[in-house]
Amino acid sequence: MALYSEKVMDHFRNPRNVGKIDDADGVGEVGNAKCGDIMRMYIKVDDNGVITDCKFNTFGCGSAIATSSMATEMIIGKTVEEALDLSNKAVVEALDGLPVHKLHCSVLAEQAVRAAVKDYYDRRGISYDPELFKDMDEEELHHHVGLD
Ligand code: FES
Repeated sequence: MALYSEKVMDHFRNPRNVGKIDDADGVGEVGNAKCGDIMRMYIKVDDNGVITDCKFNTFGCGSAIATSSMATEMIIGKTVEEALDLSNKAVVEALDGLPVHKLHCSVLAEQAVRAAVKDYYDRRGISYDPELFKDMDEEELHHHVGLD
């Protein structure tokens, strides 16, 4: 059996929504402590709290690229609250699976989405339960990763 599903290969070879949103409403930057790979996620949010656009940049492996690409497709059109509920497991399932030793890569995508939503809340002054983000290790949030 092939190590990577066709969907993973497709999103790796033709990643969707790569790039940057200059006037983003939220930007999330995260790093994966295990491998040192980093990712930046941008979201554009309308007045109803719906994510109308999402782009990402990464210095990451193929699995990180594929999961981020799929994650952006899954959250565009969703509310920020729905985006927070997106688990790396759901993204991996949508990609028809990842090898076990690459599962940690999918966490980067999930954390980047969550960091972008947190930044959106902070910028808009929207109050939230800090518990929502308590599993995000501040040390893994990189604020000057130089992806521009
Ligand atoms: Fe670093 Fe995959 S090996 S994100």
